[in-house]
Amino acid sequence: MSDDLNSAAYWDAAYDEDRDGWDMGTPTPVFVDILTRCGMDFSAFGDRDYASLGRPPRVLIPCSGRGYDALYFATRGWDVTAVDFAEHPLRWLREESEQAGVEIEILQEDMFTLGRTHHESFDLLVEYTCICAIDPDRRVEFVRFCREVLRPGGTVLALLFPVDGRPGGPPFSIDVEDFKAQMAPQFTLLHESTPETSVKPRLGRERLLLWRKQ
Ligand SMILES: C[S@@+](CC[C@H](N)C(=O)[O-])C[C@H]1O[C@@H](n2cnc3c(N)ncnc32)[C@H](O)[C@@H]1O
Repeated sequence: MSDDLNSAAYWDAAYDEDRDGWDMGTPTPVFVDILTRCGMDFSAFGDRDYASLGRPPRVLIPCSGRGYDALYFATRGWDVTAVDFAEHPLRWLREESEQAGVEIEILQEDMFTLGRTHHESFDLLVEYTCICAIDPDRRVEFVRFCREVLRPGGTVLALLFPVDGRPGGPPFSIDVEDFKAQMAPQFTLLHESTPETSVKPRLGRERLLLWRKQ
């Protein structure tokens, strides 16, 4: 087994060996709550009404894993791209989306390559259990990746987890203030809150943030 968490082999081994305790088997309740309450109108967060674009808004879900959120956004009318470099979860997502008759662009790639192939392509990027899965030294690279793939004015919707200062990882704890400082030169913070709709074991250990690309 690879011990390099920057490799697909590391994550595929975790899925193959059922060491995928992060996988909730359902869409993220915080996102379900937002889409149920707001639909595509994110003006409550100081963002835009995506329904007024005149086309399905384009959302990128990096580190999608099995892609329950990708399926959920797609069924709510969003034009979804899911990216993960592991083969195992994407096989599941391909089968599931086919069975459900839901169209999703599924990319088995290192997300950091999308800055070249999908430059300024997306209206929204949805981050969940992605930052905590990458080497903390790569967070600056993650911010650059967000800037590269989002169109000007595009939004990052991040549900940062875990934010409890736990040692080691993955999942690596995210210092919210440090991460905000990393985003600040490129992105304007629109919203920040601690959601009440987190799954029970993560309640109080998640932070919801929205940024707009400057
Ligand atoms: C902790 S899992 C979370 C998966 C999913 N977000 C969920 O909540 O079920 C992290 C995922 O990130 C993927 N991943 C890690 N680094 C990646 C990279 N550089 N490019 C693409 N996928 C990556 C792994 O393959 C794994 O599926």
